Amino acid sequence: MSEQTAPTRATTDTIVEATDLSVSYGKVRALRDVDLTINEGEIVSLIGPNGAGKTTFADTTAGYLPYTGSISFKGTEVNSVDQSTLVDDGLIYTTEKRDLFAFMSVEENLTMGGYRSRDTVDEMLEFVYDLFPRLEERRSQEARTMSGGEQQMLAIGRALMGSPELLILDEPTLGLAPVIIDDISDALDPILDRGVTILLAEQNVTFALNHADRIYLLENGSVAKSGPASEMKGDNYIRDTYLGG
Ligand SMILES: Nc1ncnc2c1ncn2[C@@H]1O[C@H](COP(=O)(O)OP(=O)(O)O)[C@@H](O)[C@H]1O
Ligand SMILES: [Mg+2]
Repeated sequence: MSEQTAPTRATTDTIVEATDLSVSYGKVRALRDVDLTINEGEIVSLIGPNGAGKTTFADTTAGYLPYTGSISFKGTEVNSVDQSTLVDDGLIYTTEKRDLFAFMSVEENLTMGGYRSRDTVDEMLEFVYDLFPRLEERRSQEARTMSGGEQQMLAIGRALMGSPELLILDEPTLGLAPVIIDDISDALDPILDRGVTILLAEQNVTFALNHADRIYLLENGSVAKSGPASEMKGDNYIRDTYLGG
């Protein structure tokens, strides 16, 4: 436990730090020497085409995959603890599949998400219902009967019920109608205002550029470009390749 033997410690304002991070599925190398930092309170977006490695990065951060190199969450090497410890430490992951309890009501799903922080359940429920009034209107409805957009709101709401410090969202806008994407957009600022840090994996480059503080572009498992979203908006390569010129 002495300072000298502790693993490389992130500075206090770094919440995720990946260095030379590589991940393979058998012979398929999905991430290659990725260096990526997320600071507390930021929203950082990973963009890139299908198959670039965005979900693999999210899965690795959440402790689901073996890796080489290093990735730490709040200074703890991810593979030195089990996955539930990361959750207990405030890392909450909304996967692309959303993982709702299909036959439970909206409110039961939300309450399940709050198991980690029972004393704040009522307050968080109020916050989530303020954020997504549609969830409150449908609090008794079974999750499986909700539309795709409502299910995405519910997945985000359930994650918030766990009082995340880091919220990982994988493709929250995928397949959703523009009007629903606007509702998700509007939710991001109030979430950030609570001090939550967000990692957003997104194929929707416009959405990412409009909402992220910083962007990492992944291509074939490597970071092809990174920088402030304001800079990336003016980047010719990103505009020509991902925004249709
Ligand atoms: N379970 C898996 N087994 C084998 N290969 C996988 C698996 N999951 C992802 N891959 C491969 O890893 C690469 C990165 O995939 P992924 O992280 O899902 O990308 P993205 O989320 O950016 O679309 C792709 O080549 C994909 O085919
Ligand atoms: Mg993906």
